[in-house]
Amino acid sequence: NRNGIEFAVADLEAAEFGRKEIRLAEHEMPGLMALRREYAEVYPLRGARISGSLHMTVQTAVLIETLVSLGAEVRWASCNIFSTQDHAAAAVVVGPHGTVEEPKGVPVFAWKGESLEEYWWCTERMLTWDGEGPNMILDDGGDATMLVHKGTTFEKAGVVPPTDENDSEEFAVFLDLLRASLAASPGKWTAIGEGVRGVTEETTTGVLRLYQLAAAGELLFPAINVNDAVTKSKFDNRYGIRHSLIDGINRGTDVLIGGKVAVVCGYGDVGKGAAESLRGQGARVIVTEIDPICALQAAMDGYAVRKLESVLPEADIIITTTGNKDVVLAEHMAQMKHQAILGNIGHFDNELDMAGLQRYPGIRRINIKPQVDEWVFPNGKTIIVLSEGRLLNLGNATGHPSFVMSNSFSNQVIAQVELFTKHEEYDNEVFRLPKKLDEKVAKIHLDALGGELTKLTKEQAEYIDVDVEGPFKPEHYRY
Ligand code: NAI
Repeated sequence: NRNGIEFAVADLEAAEFGRKEIRLAEHEMPGLMALRREYAEVYPLRGARISGSLHMTVQTAVLIETLVSLGAEVRWASCNIFSTQDHAAAAVVVGPHGTVEEPKGVPVFAWKGESLEEYWWCTERMLTWDGEGPNMILDDGGDATMLVHKGTTFEKAGVVPPTDENDSEEFAVFLDLLRASLAASPGKWTAIGEGVRGVTEETTTGVLRLYQLAAAGELLFPAINVNDAVTKSKFDNRYGIRHSLIDGINRGTDVLIGGKVAVVCGYGDVGKGAAESLRGQGARVIVTEIDPICALQAAMDGYAVRKLESVLPEADIIITTTGNKDVVLAEHMAQMKHQAILGNIGHFDNELDMAGLQRYPGIRRINIKPQVDEWVFPNGKTIIVLSEGRLLNLGNATGHPSFVMSNSFSNQVIAQVELFTKHEEYDNEVFRLPKKLDEKVAKIHLDALGGELTKLTKEQAEYIDVDVEGPFKPEHYRY
């Protein structure tokens, strides 16, 4: 706590470097800057107390300061133990008008390389306000939402269930935190759940969790699915990954990608960006899929479609992009080539069976540098695992670049304003933003790239049955 601002970051002295990068990023984030101008005198988020759980990067700093400039109070944590950029975290605490001695920014609880215990501690601090609790959540992957929901459920039951032997280490740590908080402040999570007007969710995996809660009738507040805005998933998940996947592989290993055999597991939005990224470097790319539609798309795009089992002996690089679990098992890893690279870019680390690898008889781990490990099998063969199986573009590199995140985060800001100001109009379900707003976000970024948009004539608009000003497509259109 300094100058009344609570925080836990690696090094507040890094704030000046962070501020310089934030300044450069602002120019590359025209959507967020346009929203700041649009709402300059309106402050639609005045009274909002936003608890945010999203990778604490330079781009997220611009998002946070946009929320603040719209009138919100904000507290922040990262949604991944490796994704924080420490200089960005420091700069957000110091704020644009503060100093290291007298910070005037936002409480941030995040540093690169948290333990699981520290991760959940940060998440709890981010949700714990002085006085009244948060009234909005901004989530990425759904951990903050899960904490509030599970906390409420266990408070009702009066007990946190014992840890099961099948529970992941992460879930066991999470249950420990809830046990401690139930003892220390009973009723805490129920009160937070009741105070929250809504959550806006950033990614595919978090959205899946929200739809599961809504289907079970357990969602405590309305939610906006930001991920499925077209200007989010068809841009960030695809073009963001096209940029940041090879960035992570290069910074982690500096292995030449050209000519190598690279396997991409999953050909959804992230998989499409990943495959394009590797092909762009001259890799021979193979795709694995469970869905025949996505598999056929991969084939039509010119990739071989195979099963993981049949390509293990030839793969130099394997990247998972499925958002599913147990995609690459320890027995698969044992069959990989010597010094093959293995990484995940989906949201959680359970896509790779890291627990199975750690238990593999006779296995040995050599840490090469932070977020790069060589695992040595008893026969002497090794594989290189990036970011301990967590999303490697944020662990080994700096995540997606500003311009693409400006699209995603513009949708986040619009969704926060919508739910904060109109929450009574929403039931406890999952909603998407109207297409008109999607088109608005696209237009701002097209303009910034110097694109010229063709205007419909009135006659043409009537002929294709749309308004001259849009929306230009029916809801069922897939882009
Ligand atoms: P998606 O649903 O569009 O694609 C996932 C694909 O994986 C689907 O086509 C599905 O059929 C396929 N799949 C599922 N199980 C499989 C298996 N066992 N083997 C092969 N393919 C399988 O989802 P999207 O949007 O591509 O997101 C994927 C993951 O990436 C999610 O966890 C999401 O949260 C995360 N994500 C990560 C980002 C990052 O910066 N690292 C950015 C955006 C999303």
